[in-house]
Amino acid sequence: MFARLLFLSLSIATVAAELYRYDNYTLYRIVPRDENELTVLRDIHRSSHAYEFWKEPSRVDEFTSLVSPSELRSDLEDVFMRNDIDYEISIANIQNVIDEQMESRTKRNADRNFRWDNYQTLEQIYDWFDTLAQEHSSLVSVIVAGQSHEGRDIKGIKISRGGGRKAFVLEGGMAGADWISPVVLTYAADQLIRGDDDEARQAVNDYDWYIFPVTNPDGYEYSHNVVRGWVKNRRQVSNTAVGVDLTKNWNSHWGISGGSFNPAFVNFVGIGPFSEPETRSFSAYIDSISSDLVGYLSFRSFGQRLLIPFAHTADHMYNYQEMVTIGRRAMGSLSVRFGTQYLVGTSSAVHDGATGAAADWVKHRYNLPVVATFQLRDTGTWGYFLPVAQVRPSCEETFDALMAIIREAKFINVL
Ligand SMILES: *[C@@H]1O[C@H](CO)[C@@H](O)[C@H](O)[C@H]1NC(C)=O
Repeated sequence: MFARLLFLSLSIATVAAELYRYDNYTLYRIVPRDENELTVLRDIHRSSHAYEFWKEPSRVDEFTSLVSPSELRSDLEDVFMRNDIDYEISIANIQNVIDEQMESRTKRNADRNFRWDNYQTLEQIYDWFDTLAQEHSSLVSVIVAGQSHEGRDIKGIKISRGGGRKAFVLEGGMAGADWISPVVLTYAADQLIRGDDDEARQAVNDYDWYIFPVTNPDGYEYSHNVVRGWVKNRRQVSNTAVGVDLTKNWNSHWGISGGSFNPAFVNFVGIGPFSEPETRSFSAYIDSISSDLVGYLSFRSFGQRLLIPFAHTADHMYNYQEMVTIGRRAMGSLSVRFGTQYLVGTSSAVHDGATGAAADWVKHRYNLPVVATFQLRDTGTWGYFLPVAQVRPSCEETFDALMAIIREAKFINVL
């Protein structure tokens, strides 16, 4: 069976034109009720890379999200049954969901306008940036924070009314299959540039904005064109394995908790901190602008959590108390539109506790007053396959939260 899976993954690498099929692949959501159940989930996680854990088992009462190939479903459900573990089948046949999204993508591509009611391709985003820079040349410029392994630009925009302002960095798209954070960030860019909201205007008067919606462009392209669930970058890391989970490759307690040291795994952390061209060049870019920064916000799929540094400890470090106050109030603002509930806290308290995160590295190195990671919708029902109907609501509520973060940070004199 493993020989067959290996063969599958090799043929994926060579036949780039066709989308990999997820027939009868299943998305599970499990909430372990005690330490025994947690141990069983951890054993499953370690047992085979064929089970792709989108969210690793981390602690009791915290949800785990995993995809099983069709061949291994009955083995998996046997283990659940034997150990009396309740599990939820969130998506019984992932291929059906992909088919629906492809159909809506075909419709989307027929419309030449750049829109926020569907997902966006890398080409659409980068072309839109070029157009913005032409149409708003005194306010918007295209910036490039280095290249990916396959030579794609890590492209962003800078929104600036001129020198002397402090700045925010917003970044997303660090996991290929995460299609929601790029669209959330292009929406934020649009609101900041063209929105008529007073707070948005003030935010551009007060700060420069560096926005990078896709920091893993190779993985993003691969997810769009070949394997929808692809998370890592696209560098060959062993004879048979490709890719590193860039969200865990930063030099902040790298490899201490969360992730895997096995290159075959979806959450492989790399052979060392900053082993990958994308994290190396993006961090060097951040360093080059660091003296101007006051804020750094990462955007990821998924979990509905606002993570405050740091992941490696439950201790409340630096200005954690201030940031958790800001975060709780901002998540209150986020919930106003659609009732979406977020948890706020350190990763080990409210999420998976995975170290090596970008925001943690920035916080430790520059101690900016405002640093956090948004884990966007949802809590594992759809995971990376968040329905198209939830794209625009995600954009709107997250932008509300962004404005609220600035408002609340000013209110308690953090900014
Ligand atoms: C998926 O499962 C259904 C029902 O068990 C089965 O009839 C079908 O052949 C399976 N499809 C594939 C491609 O494995």
